[in-house]
Amino acid sequence: MSQFPTTVHYTIVAGFAIAAILTLLHKKREKKAAGLTPKQLELVQTSWAKVEPISDAAADIFYGQMFSTHPEYRKLFPEDMAKQKKALMKMLAMAVKGITNLDELVPKVQDLGRRHAKYYKVTIPMYKTVGECLLFTLEKGLGDSFTPEHKEAWALTYEILAGVMIPFHDK
Ligand code: HEM
Repeated sequence: MSQFPTTVHYTIVAGFAIAAILTLLHKKREKKAAGLTPKQLELVQTSWAKVEPISDAAADIFYGQMFSTHPEYRKLFPEDMAKQKKALMKMLAMAVKGITNLDELVPKVQDLGRRHAKYYKVTIPMYKTVGECLLFTLEKGLGDSFTPEHKEAWALTYEILAGVMIPFHDK
């Protein structure tokens, strides 16, 4: 009878150890999420949790700011903004939650970019304005709890989203 442990046992144990290390590495990479540090990811997700309960008011601040600073954008949107406000907040919620699972999120944001370029008459410079309105909304809606670190983390999050959408525009 062969002695214990045999080479086969060592190979099995080494196989499990490698699989465990690979799983851990994969998990760690998943958490890093598209250029955001784990700390920034946490800042975005915890501040978003505070926006969700005031989501109607946040959407009002967002479009209020957009249309007062850029009245010419108003004609791009429908008369009744109720559906649009809900859609934007839903999409942002999905993005905040999905930023740790880019494989699933990116195709959805690409489709959104395609629709913005093809149907909504949106142009590339408008993305800068929308980013500014988003940061303004978070600052106004969350008050002092929205720190410069939150702002930086959100600016990066928006840059990532806009960066996926903008390549579908040719102007
Ligand atoms: C990361 C950036 C953006 C996000 C997450 C976003 C999100 C959305 C969502 C979820 C919709 C609903 C319709 C759909 O799903 O196709 C929408 C529609 C629309 N968005 Fe955006 N958007 C972004 C950037 C912009 C920019 C830069 C503009 C320029 C002003 C803009 C203007 C519009 C317009 C005009 C519509 C269509 C309204 C309608 O006709 O119903 N969006 N957006």
